[in-house]
This record gives sequence, C-alpha cells and structure tokens, in this order.
Amino acid sequence: MIDLKSQYMGLKLRNPLVAGSSGLTNSVENIIELEKNGISAVVLKSLFEEQIHYRVSQIIMEDEYANLYPEVENYIRNYTTENDVNTYLRLIENAKKAVNIPVIASINCISDTAWMAYAKKIEVAGADGLELNVAVLPSDPDKEGNENEKIYFNIARKISQELEIPVAIKLSCYFSGLAKTLIGLSRTGIKALVLFNRFYSPDIDVEHEEVKSSFVFSTPSDVALPLRWIAMLSPIVKCDIAASTGVHGGNALIKLLLVGADVVQIASVLYKKGFREVGSMIEQLESWMYRHNYSSIDEFRGKLSVTETENPAAYERIQFMKHFSGIE
Ligand SMILES: Cc1cc2nc3c(=O)[nH]c(=O)nc-3n(C[C@H](O)[C@H](O)[C@H](O)COP(=O)(O)O)c2cc1C
Repeated sequence: MIDLKSQYMGLKLRNPLVAGSSGLTNSVENIIELEKNGISAVVLKSLFEEQIHYRVSQIIMEDEYANLYPEVENYIRNYTTENDVNTYLRLIENAKKAVNIPVIASINCISDTAWMAYAKKIEVAGADGLELNVAVLPSDPDKEGNENEKIYFNIARKISQELEIPVAIKLSCYFSGLAKTLIGLSRTGIKALVLFNRFYSPDIDVEHEEVKSSFVFSTPSDVALPLRWIAMLSPIVKCDIAASTGVHGGNALIKLLLVGADVVQIASVLYKKGFREVGSMIEQLESWMYRHNYSSIDEFRGKLSVTETENPAAYERIQFMKHFSGIE
C-alpha cells in the first residue's frame, strides 16, 4: 500500500504536489477542478503590492477631481485598495467553503510596511497559510547586498510575529550569499522557503529592435536550478522547502523529493498540459515508488541530498569538465 501523505508548513497534505501561485489559482472553479484532479493544496494568485499602488496611481492620474482635491485622492486610494483586497478576501472565503484541501494565500511584496495590514485580513478570511513572494531585484548600483537582504529579514521577522497561520517566503536565487541568507531566513520563524520564483524576463525582438517579454512559461531544463540548491540546502535549513520552477512531469517531481523537497509546486505545466497532468504525475510517482519498493515518501525524501549522496561534488561543481559532463 503506497502512502503519499506529506506535511508542509505544519499542514497535512494528501500528497506532495501543490498548485503554485498563478492565474489558474485565481478562481474557485479552477481550485475545485485542481482538487478533483488530485492536487494536495493551492497557492492563490498573488495580491500584488505593486499592482495595488499602480492601479491607485492610474485612477488618480485620470481623475481631474483627484488632482484638484487631495481628499478625493485619499478616498480613491482607500477605495481602490479596499476593493482589490475585498475581492481577494472573498476568493479565500469561497475557496475555503468549496474545497477540503489547504488554501494558501499569496502576497507579492517589495517592502516591509504597506501590505502588512492586508496579511491580517487574509488570516481572518480563513487562509490556511500565507506565501510571501518577496521580489527585490538587486539592480541599484548604490545598494550593498546586505541592504537588500535586510528587507527579506525584516519581512520574515515581522510577519511571523504578526500572524498565527504559517508563513512561507518565495524568493529568487539572486543573492551573493545565497546559502547563508536562506539558512538565516529559515531561523526567523517562517515555516517554509519556496525555491525558486521565476520572474518575468525581458527579451529583444531583433526585427523591430524592441524590447519584448520573453517566454512566460518555464521549460523542463529549468528544474536544474531548484534541484541543485535544494540538494545542498535541504539538510541544513531549519524549515520546510517547496520546490518551484521547471516541474513538467512525474520524473521532475521524484527528483526534487529525492534531493529533499517537502512539496513540489507546479504552474507552467498546468497551463501547457491542463489539470489532468496532476493525476498523471501522481500516478508516475506511485508507480516509481512501487518499482523501488517504497511505501511512504519519507523513505526516500532527501536520499540524494548533498549529505546523503555518494557524489556530493556533483552539486558543488559549476564548471564543465569532461569527467563531470561527459563531453569535451
Ligand atoms: C502565468 C503565470 C502567473 C504567475 N503568477 C504568479 C503570482 O501571482 N505570484 C507568484 O508568486 N508566482 C506567480 N507565478 C510563478 C509561479 O508560481 C512559479 O513560481 C513559476 O512559474 C515557476 O514554476 P513553473 O516552472 O512550474 O511554472 C506565475 C507563473 C505564471 C506562469
């Protein structure tokens, strides 16, 4: 008998496959379908701190009264923010009524102040957890690396004190001291790290000589990034780890569990192959466990992390050498 039960941020899950935050987790209908197809938890589309500010400024710029009367500007600012937040809170409440799987809310934030008021409302609305997508691009030439890192630490500490529901932090790999930063963050009271976020990236249209958006979706080879870092960090961080980026099938799911992920999040594959892929990934995991004589995930989770594998150098090496890559 194969048991896929998993634990993540203190939540009990029926398996380790979680729907990551995306436009697909922005409606109750989709969340119901994801549950039917076997997903174990959903992370809702993020409430964007940036987006709220942008929308408010847009409305204010368009409104002539707002330009003339500052009190109108205040009214619009509060009304627009409240409206966006209220829609989000309703999504949480309705999703919680409609499904039995955990519903994790998500806030995309770039500071440690403005959005804190929303987080408490999210907890009251019934979210089972909160994932904070913290996105600070270290592109300011006048800023030291530790100034950027401080933003993450302030957010992690403040929010863990503020909320009772478990909190996860989702971040990118853009840190000069990635391992130390992640270990430090895992000690702040947060319950999980989501490794890694995939950002919108620019690309160039050479015919029109213009900047355009690059591919929104990941590809299967992108899984190499979380795989390496989870293999190296899972034995030492003090909280759970969710893998994210490049998981396009059952094999990638198995690999990330083998290097020590507690759960695995998927987004692009749901867009590309549809919700039925969830069932097929779970079946691949079960059949692999059956063939390898495993009856529970804990029997093999982390078996190929840097401390358990016979070949730890494979994770540390970054230059191509024939001995490692097999190609001259
Ligand atoms: C269309 C789309 C929308 C997304 N929206 C969000 C979002 O609102 N918040 C967030 O934290 N991540 C968002 N993501 C990122 C995903 O949650 C995920 O981290 C990333 O796509 C890598 O996983 P994947 O390779 O399975 O797609 C989005 C991804 C896609 C493709």
